[in-house]
Parts: sequence; C-alpha cells; structure tokens
Amino acid sequence: MTKLNHKPTLLCIGHRGAMGHAPENTIASIRQALELGTPCIEIDVYSVNGDLLVIHDERLERTTNGKGRLWEHDFGYLRSLDAGRGEQIPTLAEVCGEIDGKACLNIELKGTKVAADVVYFIQTMLHPEVSCWRREQLLISSFDHRALQQVRKLDSSLNIAALGYSIPVDQARFAQDLGAMAVNPALELVDLAYVEDAHARDLKVYVYTVNEPEDLQAMAALGVDGVFTNYPERVLEHYAQPDM
Ligand code: G3P
Ligand code: MG
Repeated sequence: MTKLNHKPTLLCIGHRGAMGHAPENTIASIRQALELGTPCIEIDVYSVNGDLLVIHDERLERTTNGKGRLWEHDFGYLRSLDAGRGEQIPTLAEVCGEIDGKACLNIELKGTKVAADVVYFIQTMLHPEVSCWRREQLLISSFDHRALQQVRKLDSSLNIAALGYSIPVDQARFAQDLGAMAVNPALELVDLAYVEDAHARDLKVYVYTVNEPEDLQAMAALGVDGVFTNYPERVLEHYAQPDM
C-alpha cells in the first residue's frame, strides 16, 4: 500500500521581504523572497510628502544611516541613505516593478495620510490595463483600522486585512462588516477561539511573525491560513501553498 504524504497548507508571507536574509524592506530583501519562491510578500509603506516609501519605522536610525523622522527630510536625502548593505529605501513603485506580479503583495499602511495615496497608486499604476498585476494579488493591511475604512470607502473591491497587536472585542466582526478578507493577529494572541470566530465569519487568519518550527506547527495545528515569516524557506519546506 502506498502511503500518501500530503503536506498541510499554510500560506507563506515573506515579512518585509525575506528579512532573515537581507536588509528589511529593501529590493535585496524582495529579490531574496522571490528567489526562495515566496508566494506572498509583505512590505511597510509610508507616504512622505506624497512619495510612497517602503520602510518600517517613522524614524530613520534603526534601519538606515540617517537621523530623525521621515517627514523632516526631502525625497533626495531619504534616497541617499544606506538602508543596509548599500541598499536604498525603495519606493512602492520600485517594489511593484521588482515583483512584477510574480508574487502577491501585502502593502501594510504605516503613518498617516497613506491610505488615499496607496489606493490612488493601485488604481493608476497597477491598473490591469497598464500593468500585469491582478487585484486579487494585492492585500492592504493596517493596525490603523480607520485607514482601512478609508481604503474601503475609496475602493470597494481591494482585499483588506485588519492587523492587531491586541485582541479588541469584535475585531473579527469589524473586519467582516468592512468586507475584509483577513484578520492578521500577533502570534502570542492566537488561540482556537480566535481562529474559529474568524473562520465562522469567512475571514482568513494570517499570523505574524512566525519563525520557529514549533510555532509553525502550533499555528498549523490551530488551522490558521498563513504566516508572516522572516525565513520563507522554513514554511515552504513543510507546508503546501494555496493557489493564489
Ligand atoms: O503585517 C504583519 C507585520 O508586519 C505587522 O507588524 O510591525 O512588522 O509591521 P510590523
Ligand atoms: Mg509590517
């Protein structure tokens, strides 16, 4: 008798590209994620005086050789900085050009005034008539749920996910009412009740940030749909990937 050995399914989302291998949120990190075969890539995006820049912190010190807050500087200065191993802070357009529809893209909205700028960018630069991107390949998320409401108001069909680092009462109901596709909780907060509540509302559960094998196993056992990870190969080795 042949023994079938099906891998369980768990979507692999590269966190800030593949930040376990390359400087986070850089083109090098995106390339690394693509080379590993990561089907979905997450990045953090700020609108800095109208320019969409891919960076996690509002301050420059942790990830670049710059100083101060993003919006204290002009585009030229920000682009002159070293974001690690000689990489620039990329623009959202550069990241989209690099991925070029070869993976799904999760744009996490950071800071203020970013929602409208990102929706405009998607509606113009990533419109199927001028690019290879399909709408289903895009996911917009944020800890700022008012920003998500703004996205939904501006665009009725974009995929949205509500991020959380705590579990507010009715988070899943809020996401359901917004027409979101997912709730994205912190690893420490996920339990079976959370997953069951989300699934009962037809929401996916994508958990951040899951790097250790035992945590991957625990999340898979709870039936979550995907994980954000700094090491995509650890997920891809053991878990099948859904059709996207
Ligand atoms: O989107 C998942 C994760 O990136 C959220 O937290 O702080 O890494 O942006 P953070
Ligand atoms: Mg993020």
